[in-house]
Amino acid sequence: MCVCAYLFGSISSAILISRVFSLPDPRFSGSNNPGATNVLRLGGKLPAALVLIFDVLKGTIPVWGAYFLNIEPVWLGAVAVSACLGHIYPIFFHFNGGKAVATAFGALLPIGLSLAGLLILTWLLILWAFRFSSLAAIVTVAAAPLYTWLIKPQYTLPVGFLTVLIIFRHRANISRLMQGKEPRVGKKKEDNA
Ligand code: G3P
Repeated sequence: MCVCAYLFGSISSAILISRVFSLPDPRFSGSNNPGATNVLRLGGKLPAALVLIFDVLKGTIPVWGAYFLNIEPVWLGAVAVSACLGHIYPIFFHFNGGKAVATAFGALLPIGLSLAGLLILTWLLILWAFRFSSLAAIVTVAAAPLYTWLIKPQYTLPVGFLTVLIIFRHRANISRLMQGKEPRVGKKKEDNA
């Protein structure tokens, strides 16, 4: 299941959907991140929404599959982490992947709607307040282990691992945020300067 989850996670929807829409390769344009936020910058709402949906499903499908096989919580966590590692280090795209925010969210969805609701609320609140997609993601994943501990404590360890991994993948964003150079969502390039 971990190998399947890794391979499934390795299908980079941002790269493939950008090709279908004849957009620049998100690995080498915008923030250089093959994810929904960067595809939104490069190509608008429709391709970004498709990337978001596919990336969420890359987490949800393997974890649901493992759940129905009655796999123990620790291995369910390993399947979730494997899907995210596939997204971050995709074997099909020279190990040059994204930040796994949407895929991690998808992998946590089977835990329950209360956790999903808390994560979405946190993300929306930070995005509404600051208009930085990266900051919204960082704060949300930082809060995720606490939320998980309150709702389903047996999954806290893998969720904590995902938090460390995802924050590590946001190093460039953190540096840009600290320098005041991070682009805001919903603003044109010149407004962000
Ligand atoms: O989910 C990715 C987001 O947190 C940052 O994306 O393109 O601004 O680096 P980006």
